[in-house]
Amino acid sequence: MPIVPVHHATGQYDVVIEPGSLLQLPELLARALGRRKLALITDDTVARYYDEWTSATAATRALGARPSDAGIRLRAEARLSFPAGEESKTRETWIRLSDELLSAGFDRHAAVVALGGGVVGDLAGFVAATYLRGIPYAQVPTTVLAMVDASVGGKVGVDTPLGKNLIGAFHPPAIVVADPLTLLSLPDRTYRAGLAEAVKHGVIADASFFGWLEANARKVMQRDLAALTHLVHRNVEIKAAVVSADEREGGMRAILNAGHTIAHGLEQESGYRIPHGEAVALGLIAECRIAERMGLAPAGLADRILGLCRALGLPIRLSAPVQVARVLDATTRDKKNRDGEVRLALPVTLGSMHEGDGKWTVPVTDELLANAVNELH
Ligand SMILES: NC(=O)c1ccc[n+]([C@@H]2O[C@H](COP(=O)([O-])OP(=O)(O)OC[C@H]3O[C@@H](n4cnc5c(N)ncnc54)[C@H](O)[C@@H]3O)[C@@H](O)[C@H]2O)c1
Ligand SMILES: [Zn+2]
Repeated sequence: MPIVPVHHATGQYDVVIEPGSLLQLPELLARALGRRKLALITDDTVARYYDEWTSATAATRALGARPSDAGIRLRAEARLSFPAGEESKTRETWIRLSDELLSAGFDRHAAVVALGGGVVGDLAGFVAATYLRGIPYAQVPTTVLAMVDASVGGKVGVDTPLGKNLIGAFHPPAIVVADPLTLLSLPDRTYRAGLAEAVKHGVIADASFFGWLEANARKVMQRDLAALTHLVHRNVEIKAAVVSADEREGGMRAILNAGHTIAHGLEQESGYRIPHGEAVALGLIAECRIAERMGLAPAGLADRILGLCRALGLPIRLSAPVQVARVLDATTRDKKNRDGEVRLALPVTLGSMHEGDGKWTVPVTDELLANAVNELH
């Protein structure tokens, strides 16, 4: 079974990536968590699929399977869920879930299983991080974004009215189990949005993976199971290497922020009408154009990224105009920038990022930023 180990300050955990792995969930969880009372946390949409997945039998599964052929086995003592969507990633939901665990009598020998996309992972992970000062949890990601990005690295948390992910913790999971079969039921737009993070991983760390994405874009768009499994596997390896090298964001982890400074500005200015992954595609293109203009990256790199985004069904320009000044304002308030100065994680070539004196980011003028955002129209 393909496994990627992720190292962190106090140990390591495995990321299992295999079609059909959810059928082995009880054994995998027992190995990582021992015998514990399990609380399954998911959202209402995934909960509906969960019923389908639990009733699917191993015999109906095969490569090239249909969504309904995904199967899951899990013996959880409680099943908690909340309405799907980013709007639920709040302290209020965290309170409700924690209180439900308390009234159900879960003690320190319990563990949480987070089944769903990045919202479930962040929220359920934060419940686990704080419940009785911290209990273990497993990530079972079911979106592309959660498999290639959110479920690995141990960052958990909730949003506040003043910004996303402002309250949270570092709480590494005990295990991550990714079953690519679950991706077959994703709505198209959600599916594609997650691919932007895969493009990002190619840009920041692996030119040959980027080339593989270019060559296999059609298979990826058709959700070919073998291609999907390779894609998730390579992305997890890349993210694991970065977070293992810099667990608490001292320096190198900043490269994971490639494309994200402008993306956050676009998301915020659009009132979150532009989904995160789509904003990341636009942010990668715009930030790479800045790198080219600063003479840091070779000419033509931004166009190559644009070409791959287009092939993967991601946006390459804005579908509605944005107020550039407001996008800039949002980027300077990005929590990762010190003192209002905008610093970007910029590529120097495909697969490698500017070291920026050990900060892995480079200060950028407002003029360059404004031009790059404008050019997305
Ligand atoms: N912790 C981290 O390091 C990290 C990194 C990146 C993103 N994130 C967070 O991840 C979140 C976004 O994650 P997301 O894009 O997965 O969103 P999401 O969890 O809201 O999932 C998107 C939608 O897909 C549905 N869904 C999930 N799995 C499905 C399946 N298999 N079939 C059909 N529908 C399914 C969900 O119910 C939801 O409606 C954001 O809150 C972001 O901040 C966290
Ligand atoms: Zn992202």
